[in-house]
Amino acid sequence: MKHKLLPIAVLALAGAVATPAMAQFAKAKDAQEYREAAMTLMASHFGRMLPVVKGQVPYDKEKIKENVAILNVLATLPWAGFAPGSEGGKAKDDVWLDPDGFKQAQDKFHASMKKLTTAADAGDYDAFRVAFGDVAKSCKSCHDSYRQKKK
Ligand code: HEC
Repeated sequence: MKHKLLPIAVLALAGAVATPAMAQFAKAKDAQEYREAAMTLMASHFGRMLPVVKGQVPYDKEKIKENVAILNVLATLPWAGFAPGSEGGKAKDDVWLDPDGFKQAQDKFHASMKKLTTAADAGDYDAFRVAFGDVAKSCKSCHDSYRQKKK
């Protein structure tokens, strides 16, 4: 690979899209891929606890606690990906048209994650199951409002 042309390409790109709000992502597609990747990881770490919630796999306090800690880190990630100017992907335009509502949906999610963390840290299986259901509801209610329906 020759990189002679790269500086020009980079300059052109920067001139086209480098507004301060988009500083973390070179282009809209990068932001979309970032938030979708973060959501995918959240879904993996959330979904793997479902068999425990359903009673199909025994409750292992330490394993759940560890996984919830990872989920807490992942839960901080997607939001920067909804940067101004990155409309598209499977997100509805309402994310950008109704930023307060979108923020409220995030807050609801973080509040439910807090309850899940408390329950997981305490090793309280019943509270963990209830809190898991609340987190699932907060994922779903945000998706209902801000994610495009699957076709
Ligand atoms: C505050 C809103 C909000 C919350 C809370 C939320 N999501 Fe999302 N999620 C979205 C939006 C918007 C998209 C579409 C993003 C895109 O395609 O640009 C999305 C996309 C996804 C995707 C698809 C990713 C892809 O590759 O297309 C998965 C999976 C997902 N979310 C899982 C979850 C799970 C699991 C939770 C809860 C643990 C959750 N989400 C919480 C808004 C939210």
